[in-house]
Amino acid sequence: MLSVPTVESSSIRDHIVGLDVRIPLLNGTTTYPINLDNAASTPTLRSVLATVNDFMDWYSSIHRGAGFKSQLATRIYEEARTIVGRFVGAQEDQHVVIFGKNTTEAINILAQRIAFNPNAVVLCSQIEHHSNDLPWRRVAEVKHIQVDPQGQLDEAHYARLLHEYAGRVRLVAISGGSNVTGVIPPIQRLAVQAHAAGAEIFVDCAQLAPHRPINIGALDDPAHLDYVALSGHKLYAPFGCGALIGRRDTFAQGEPSYVGGGTVRSVTESTVVWTDSPGRDEAGSPNVVGAVALAAAVNTLTSIGMATVAEHEAELTAYALQRLAQVPCIRIYGETDPETAHTRLGVIPLAIEGVAHGLVASILSHEYGIAVRNGSFCAQPYLRRLLERPDTEIDCGQTASSTQLPTASPGLVRISFGLYNTLDEIDTLAEALTTIAQHAYQGDYVQDPTTGEYRPQGWHLDTRSYFSLGQTTTRPVTLETAAVTLSGS
Ligand SMILES: Cc1ncc(COP(=O)(O)O)c(C=O)c1O
Repeated sequence: MLSVPTVESSSIRDHIVGLDVRIPLLNGTTTYPINLDNAASTPTLRSVLATVNDFMDWYSSIHRGAGFKSQLATRIYEEARTIVGRFVGAQEDQHVVIFGKNTTEAINILAQRIAFNPNAVVLCSQIEHHSNDLPWRRVAEVKHIQVDPQGQLDEAHYARLLHEYAGRVRLVAISGGSNVTGVIPPIQRLAVQAHAAGAEIFVDCAQLAPHRPINIGALDDPAHLDYVALSGHKLYAPFGCGALIGRRDTFAQGEPSYVGGGTVRSVTESTVVWTDSPGRDEAGSPNVVGAVALAAAVNTLTSIGMATVAEHEAELTAYALQRLAQVPCIRIYGETDPETAHTRLGVIPLAIEGVAHGLVASILSHEYGIAVRNGSFCAQPYLRRLLERPDTEIDCGQTASSTQLPTASPGLVRISFGLYNTLDEIDTLAEALTTIAQHAYQGDYVQDPTTGEYRPQGWHLDTRSYFSLGQTTTRPVTLETAAVTLSGS
């Protein structure tokens, strides 16, 4: 049994995999990595790795196997479902937990499973990640709720849209937390209004779940959420599993979005009877190990306490907003007031005047070992709005012409915190950004004309000496050679 880590103590860092390796810097030295790109993916919790490791002795096919291990693994997989459901307050009689790859897949599945009328409207917002916008465009007419420059939802506009499309709004699909500015929409309030208008609400919890408690709520609560989705790789469990949790009655009828093994009760050459969900919505052999990892992660997060996580990250965010404001030539986008840190996520987009976002990110990586993200974060409409760029401008690695470099396109640098980041790391970042703003960095950077990425001249990155999948063999592996290797002779 793993001892429960606390966020207060530095010991939380001992529970994260990979913080103690050293990575190379441009000046020939090495350093410990600073990961400020948690909104993309978090590192792994040691408890997750340990649980996966222990489970592998018992790993087997699930659901239809008669063997002892199959029975054990089936029980564990279903237990993982219960644990993940409980993490968002789901009730077994009202909700179903469907495991899949990630939030994007979950949203695509949901878009196929809700019965949309031909004239149905889905209300998204202007802050959405592409994954919570594009799937809805395939199945309904999408209208976007306006936001102010900080990303705060215009609730009057929301009310107007509900009124204007009364009777047609089937679903409100809204981010639980922005991956660009960290803004947290008032989802419970939006839910009440959606339900009053006869609509349901889906909340994209990809960003919210690692940082805040989530309560899907009972169906008779007007503020309940009808569906939520989350990703394991943003929750310290990068083993390829995410979840869609939602009202059971929706998934009790209709055809699954993927069909095949596991989705059926009976099949003849001309008929099929679907099984109940979640089986109906988990076509093929499931990612058992991923589900175990996800459950282990939410167990650990629950032990730490999501309120404790939120508190720690608010402290980091407040400190970062205050510390970064002292960096010359910096512009921080979204809410900049440190006092509001507890009402938002620790996701901060910024620009350094006169230095391309791709160059800032590259210098941080090569000269300081700091990992950040740059570009438009799969939220191009929101980025354009933040940067006040017209829709016609090309973004996100798409070149307008063969002469325009991708990172000449609009974009920002994004830093995002996880529960293990420290105030010292923010100090290092602030010092690094100051050096960059003063153009006092060491390297001579050139931009790759095809990818748009900046690389320091003369830098030869040899990742092979850090990690490799083994020697490539010139001899093809045959059954005979494999047997020799396997028997160890
Ligand atoms: C708000 C939001 N929604 C959805 C996604 C998609 O998540 P995934 O890539 O795990 O499918 C992301 C990923 O960054 C996100 O930030």
